[in-house]
This record gives sequence, C-alpha cells and structure tokens, in this order.
Amino acid sequence: MNKEKMMSRSIRISARALNDLALLSTGAFAPVSRFMTFDEARSVVEGLELPGGEVWPIPLLLQADDLPAEPNLSLVHGDAIVGTLRLQEGFRIPLRDWAKKIYGTDDQNHPGVAAFHAAGEFAIAGEVEWRGTPGSVAGGADWLTAAAVRAEIAERGWKRVAGFQTRNPIHRAHEYVLRVALEVTDGLLVHPLVGETKADDIPADVRLRCYGALLDHYFAPDRVLFTPLPAWMRYAGPREAVLHAIIRRNYGCTHFIVGRDHAGVGRYYGPYDAQKLVASFGDRIGIKPLFFDEVFYCLRCQGVASRKTCGHALAERLLLSGSEVRRRLREGIALPEEFTRPEVAAVLAAAFRQEAGSA
Ligand code: ADX
Repeated sequence: MNKEKMMSRSIRISARALNDLALLSTGAFAPVSRFMTFDEARSVVEGLELPGGEVWPIPLLLQADDLPAEPNLSLVHGDAIVGTLRLQEGFRIPLRDWAKKIYGTDDQNHPGVAAFHAAGEFAIAGEVEWRGTPGSVAGGADWLTAAAVRAEIAERGWKRVAGFQTRNPIHRAHEYVLRVALEVTDGLLVHPLVGETKADDIPADVRLRCYGALLDHYFAPDRVLFTPLPAWMRYAGPREAVLHAIIRRNYGCTHFIVGRDHAGVGRYYGPYDAQKLVASFGDRIGIKPLFFDEVFYCLRCQGVASRKTCGHALAERLLLSGSEVRRRLREGIALPEEFTRPEVAAVLAAAFRQEAGSA
C-alpha cells in the first residue's frame, strides 16, 4: 500500500479525542462504547438520555473539520496510530444550538463552548478500538481502568465507596468533604481528572504531586484508592456533574461527591445547579450523590466547616478565590495553613517558583 493511500484512511485526532477513545474502550462511559451518531447525540442533548432511556448528559462526539471518505479509519495522534474507527455515520453538528443546550450558553468565553466550536463542525460516528496503553494518554499519568478499580475495590472488600472528582489541588475544603464522605463509607476513590483543563487551572502533574503529598501525610492508605482519570474538563457544570457521576458508577463507586459549583466556571451556573440536576434523576443514575454545601475555614470555630455545621457570620470565614491563590503563589506569598496543608502548599510554591524561573 502506498503512503498516500494509507494517509487517506487515517485521521488525526486531538488529545481530547484520544482521552475519549481510551475511556470509551475501557468501560468508563458504559453503556456507551462508541462515538455517537446524530440520533444518539440529539437524544442526549435534547432529553438527557440515550435512545434506550438511560440517563446521559453530554454527547460523546469525534469532531472533525471534514468528513472522511473511507469506512475503515486509523486514528492518529502525534506520530502514532492510537486506534481504529469503523465509520457508521458522519454528520454536521448544529454547534450553536447544541452549545446552548449542553453548556447553557453559546458564549465563546466559556472554555467548554470554545473547545466545542474549535474541535470542528462535523462528527464521525462509529465503533472504536483503542490501541494504546494507559501511559500513552493524558501526559503519561499512570491510570487504572474501570475494571482494574472494580477489582481493587472487591479485593479490599469495600461495600460502600465514595468517588471524588477534582481538577484542583486538594485544599482544606476538599479534604473536609473527603473526610465526611469517608465517615459514611468504607473507602474513597480519589479520582482527579488529568486531561485538558483551561489554561489557568493548575497543571495535572503539579496537582498529582499535591494529591500525593496530602494523601501520604493525612489519610489512612488502606482507606483511599488514588488514580488519575484521563478525561478532559468540559466545564459544563450540571450536565458534567451527571457525566462525572456515571463514570464513577462505572468505576465501582456506590456514592459520588457533588459540592458547590461542581464542574462550574465563572458565573455560568448557580452554585447548587449541579446538585439539583443530579437529584432530579432520583435513582436512575445508579450511584448515590453525597451533596455538600459550601465548605470554608471558620476563624471562630477554628476549623473547617460548612453552612450546615457552622452558624457564624460570613465575616468570620477565611475565603480565598482561585485567582487570589494564584496571585499569592506567583508573588511567593505562603498560603495559610487554614486554607491548604503545608505539604501541599510547598508543592505548589515549588511549582510556581520553577515556572517563574523558566519564564
Ligand atoms: S470540579 O470542577 O472538579 O468540580 P474542584 O476540583 O474544585 O472542581 O471540586 C471538586 C469537588 O469538590 C466538586 O464536587 C466541588 O463541588 C467540591 N468543592 C470544591 N470546593 C468546595 C467548597 N469550598 N465547598 C463545597 N464543595 C466544594
């Protein structure tokens, strides 16, 4: 076969598509195992369910700038063939209409909407086979598949397992949520997302070091399973919270943590919209949500608390926004112990020093 012919059968896929491919092929998105057809995607966008009736919030699309002519495709990322796709259907995506329905906005300042528009206006649907290894996606982070985590949970004999999604370093508020969840379960799946995030989120490799520092120093190792998830952030708030819950159900969790403004960005979603959408499905998702009110450090209580456990005034709370945290780190100002454990703060400070040194 000559090279030109070979190339006409291959399409280049993005890092995001590669993450989706790996998760589709390893059961993380069950019952979905292929890139969606128009009817499937429309059913998801319009009605939040698959044509068969299962809850599904966000279409899984292989987006492209044009449609391929060949039915059997090699999927290429970088200089490697990472999988194959058997073309079932190609279609034009109603980008603006679907963006409004999925993200609640078509504003291109929303990072998920911007990524949706940038990925291409066509979708290539069909069965896929992933040819990679865990180390070949999401920056080489060593991650466990859904089957591997289920096996580990069974091995540990856990009956009640709380899944925790995060895209941020674990600060004291996150830690509080984890501890409370652990009080009512047998174990935790700390499952940080390490695919693409927006530019000003802390990079995944730094976050992984933060998680390691926190878990090593503050949690009982036999109660925590820690593995990254090679998924990318859509910042779709409520709908993404449902997707996050489905993935953790597939990973063997019985419970899933949904706190304040889960998977949110800017002011696009209300702080408890994600909880409302998850709750609206009752038992249909197949995982029990653990909802948390806003968690903060209360100077009067001298501890981390939530609106449920602390009645003191707003002025007593130590509140640091994400941008304030980044400003302090950039300027070499230490993060207070009430906000972040010193071991985590040290990892962050070192990463920002290194970044400043190389700039
Ligand atoms: S997310 O995009 O993955 O949701 P993040 O990593 O900040 O962002 O949050 C992980 C989980 O912790 C989410 O369920 C989120 O709602 C919850 N969470 C984060 N900070 C707080 C807080 N201060 N109070 C309550 N819940 C929080």
